[in-house]
Amino acid sequence: MIQTVTSPARMRGEIAVPGDKSISHRSLLFNAMARGTARVEGLLRAGDVFSTMRCLRALGVRIGDTAWGTVTVEGRAGRGFAAPAEVLDAGNSGTTMRLISGLLAAQPFASVITGDDSLRRRPMRRIIEPLRSMGASIVGAAGSNTGADGDAHAPLTIRGGALHGIRYRMPVASAQVKSCLMIAALYAEGATVIEEPAATRDHTERMFRAMGARVRVDGKHVSVEPGELRAVDVRVPGDISSAAFWLVAAAIHPDADLTVRNVGVNPSRTGILDALRAMGASVEVMALPDAGGEPVADLRVRSSRLRGTVIRGDLIPRLIDELPLLAVAGACASGVTEIRDAQELRAKESDRIQTTAGELRKLGATVEELPDGMIVQGGTGQGGTALRGAACVSHGDHRIAMAMAIAAMRAQGETAIHDAEAVDISYPQFWDTLQRIAVAR
Ligand code: S3P
Repeated sequence: MIQTVTSPARMRGEIAVPGDKSISHRSLLFNAMARGTARVEGLLRAGDVFSTMRCLRALGVRIGDTAWGTVTVEGRAGRGFAAPAEVLDAGNSGTTMRLISGLLAAQPFASVITGDDSLRRRPMRRIIEPLRSMGASIVGAAGSNTGADGDAHAPLTIRGGALHGIRYRMPVASAQVKSCLMIAALYAEGATVIEEPAATRDHTERMFRAMGARVRVDGKHVSVEPGELRAVDVRVPGDISSAAFWLVAAAIHPDADLTVRNVGVNPSRTGILDALRAMGASVEVMALPDAGGEPVADLRVRSSRLRGTVIRGDLIPRLIDELPLLAVAGACASGVTEIRDAQELRAKESDRIQTTAGELRKLGATVEELPDGMIVQGGTGQGGTALRGAACVSHGDHRIAMAMAIAAMRAQGETAIHDAEAVDISYPQFWDTLQRIAVAR
């Protein structure tokens, strides 16, 4: 599908974004592992979460889904999963593959989990090695653990069994790896202690606690004691990673005022707000009552004169999925925006350093690729680069499709986004919302 985007005269409106992707995956998976039945409200209905649902159903989990209503999950109380009759398909979803692998590592049967072309290129050694040291048997594609890039890849063949707790220092800051090991830790003998190089999103810690698990966090150390989870109802807040598109759209447009309602503002996810503020954006956060142990707020952003900034270090995991979008903001700012310490961007649904730089250049931006980030030239004086419409491609990556659409809302002339259906992975309503907030002259 090709989607065309032009810059509207004005942007106005109130937006409700779909449910948080990270929390949606976890609400299904952890409740499937728990004792009891849970109701999930506001679940994200998009490709990645459907992948988790599909894998769980193949493992014998009953999930009741009433088109637009509440989803119910019947827990399997720890080990009550069924050996899957077929290869499990995680689609495009790294979270599905890495978190479910932690569960499979502890089940008394063998299974194979794979995904689409993009997911089969993504690094899996990061979960294979620690799960093996807990006692699981896992092999990567073609029985090998080293592909051409020196890493291991799906399909993963996992023979689960008796696990023991470990102390593990993660070489990369990844909430997916941390969560995979926390899941396995519930089934292990003895405690597991995980050390993160930088703090990553803590939705697993929060939900585990709400479900009665013994989890302790001490700085960058997370320890988990073995035990059973209790089913818990979840109200999923809006996804800040989806809200981020509208926040940047409003900040870079000359006549915009947008409010995004009911957004999860867990501090491990709000790096985008900090970065936008550092760039001089007008961002208002209006706190609402918490939902299921997660802070929630309405966010309002208005047209702003942005200036370049430096994004690096411990801030990176707090805005990892928003970096393509911050590169767009950088192009529309005055001065230079520098993104460093973000080599993980190369291991996402696409190599997001390459795809962001390549697509932004088509729109007229000046972007230099670094091994671990980008240098984006803004404009001299007030206002950024004058972007112009072009033909862009999503590279099958939902966040690249949406980031380029936001840049196109500031560009002169028409932009065509090819393979625009990629947005269905996390935000199927994206194009409708884009049209709704655009006010014609
Ligand atoms: C996620 C963690 C991040 C993020 C992804 C969702 C999660 O991945 O990019 O979109 O739900 O745990 P990494 O853990 O690989 O950084």
